[in-house]
Amino acid sequence: MTSDSFHTIIEPFRIKSVEPIRFTTRADRAAALERSGYNPFLLRADEVLIDLLTDSGTGAMSKHQWAGMMRGDESYAGADSFYRFEAAVRDITGLQHIIPTHQGRAAERILFTTILKPGDIVPNNTHFDTTRANIEARGAVAVDLPTPEGRQPQVRAPFKGNIDLAALERCLDANRGKVPLVMITVTNNSGGGQPVSLENIRGARDICRKHGVPLFLDCCRYAENAWFIKTREQGMEAKSPIQIARAMFACVDGATMSAKKDGMGNIGGFLALNDPDWTERCKNNLILTEGFTTYGGLAGYDLEALAVGFYEALDEDYLRYRIRSIEYLGDLLTKGGVPIVQPTGGHAVYIDAKAMLPHIPPAQFPAWALACALYLEGGVRGVEIGSVMFGRQPDGTEKPAAMELVRLAFPRRVYTQSHVDYLGEVILRVYAMRGKIRGMRMTHAPEVLRHFTAQFSPVEPDAV
Ligand code: F0G
Repeated sequence: MTSDSFHTIIEPFRIKSVEPIRFTTRADRAAALERSGYNPFLLRADEVLIDLLTDSGTGAMSKHQWAGMMRGDESYAGADSFYRFEAAVRDITGLQHIIPTHQGRAAERILFTTILKPGDIVPNNTHFDTTRANIEARGAVAVDLPTPEGRQPQVRAPFKGNIDLAALERCLDANRGKVPLVMITVTNNSGGGQPVSLENIRGARDICRKHGVPLFLDCCRYAENAWFIKTREQGMEAKSPIQIARAMFACVDGATMSAKKDGMGNIGGFLALNDPDWTERCKNNLILTEGFTTYGGLAGYDLEALAVGFYEALDEDYLRYRIRSIEYLGDLLTKGGVPIVQPTGGHAVYIDAKAMLPHIPPAQFPAWALACALYLEGGVRGVEIGSVMFGRQPDGTEKPAAMELVRLAFPRRVYTQSHVDYLGEVILRVYAMRGKIRGMRMTHAPEVLRHFTAQFSPVEPDAV
């Protein structure tokens, strides 16, 4: 337990195994960007110095997780490892039926292909890209209902991830019989990693019950959300993160999870539900596409690592350090004048590229341009969450995204404070030269989830 009498919050671990990172020159990075079509997803990882592309599957596992892996039971059916995984998920979520999957989007695909039909509507505080894409792939409609403050990067509020309850009520009233489920994403990843309050989840539960519609959590970052509830929601400070997580899950009928986040794993996920009929249909779908019900596309040793990781994510010392290290970078940037989504979220700092680069119109993808500049100047890889990711509409037209953000997502237990100090320096340097950053033109785009493989070139100065 960190002593309250000291100011410094330290990494609550020491390092047993290290992974070298490789320094490159600016010229190396310019060549790498050109070769990869100015798409950071297409860089080789060893060309990146500090990799903040995602917090998904990129964390360092603990010795307890590695020890757990050694007892992985690789039996095809009925492995011990599955029962330990199932017990952990059931203990934390209280949900009845636990279906392992190889990652979050597999849980989404299984759920949505099982229960959605064309024309159905699925509201969420904000759908993540894979969730939206899996819904749209069924011909259904993914509706985002964030609160008004959730759309304003600079506005400070404790729970900017909340779903707009009045809008949810209107949506359910207007679409009776067409909404098979409502979802809430904790924390709200596309909306700045912002938390959702317990009060808001309970409010959504009441509305859903009134309309007879099940409520699901997209619970990838349930532990980080629980920490924000503990530290920001009135009356919750004395509760432990696991008690709060249980209170969150007690409101819902099911959950999809990418265990690559708060499962502290490098791979894995689950679909958890209470409804026996949906469960049976989802299990059949799982067997057809992922694997038998007691491994769902994972090795026994993966299930073991996750059974341990789900609890480690809820450790108070870990969560205090985790949330503080993100906030620490946020403080450095805020002090330097860099516009970021305020307050800092759970797993990432989000730079507001629209505010930082007003000379680049949305059609020239300001956040994409900023992500490329951060790599070029400092070898830092982040991800655009803006009009490249979300601008293409299901009918093929373009509409600028609500926000143009660069997300710098922190792998769990990987980087130390000096890495973060370096990041601060890089970002402030890029901020100082922001007027010189040019927009991007998309030269090739695939149909679905285009940000992963699209190609770009910088807009020529005279074309601006
Ligand atoms: N839901 C949310 C809120 C997510 O953030 C992600 C993944 C998924 C679902 C899908 O999970 O990757 O295991 O299939 N987010 C990662 C990210 C990729 O970088 O934020 P997955």
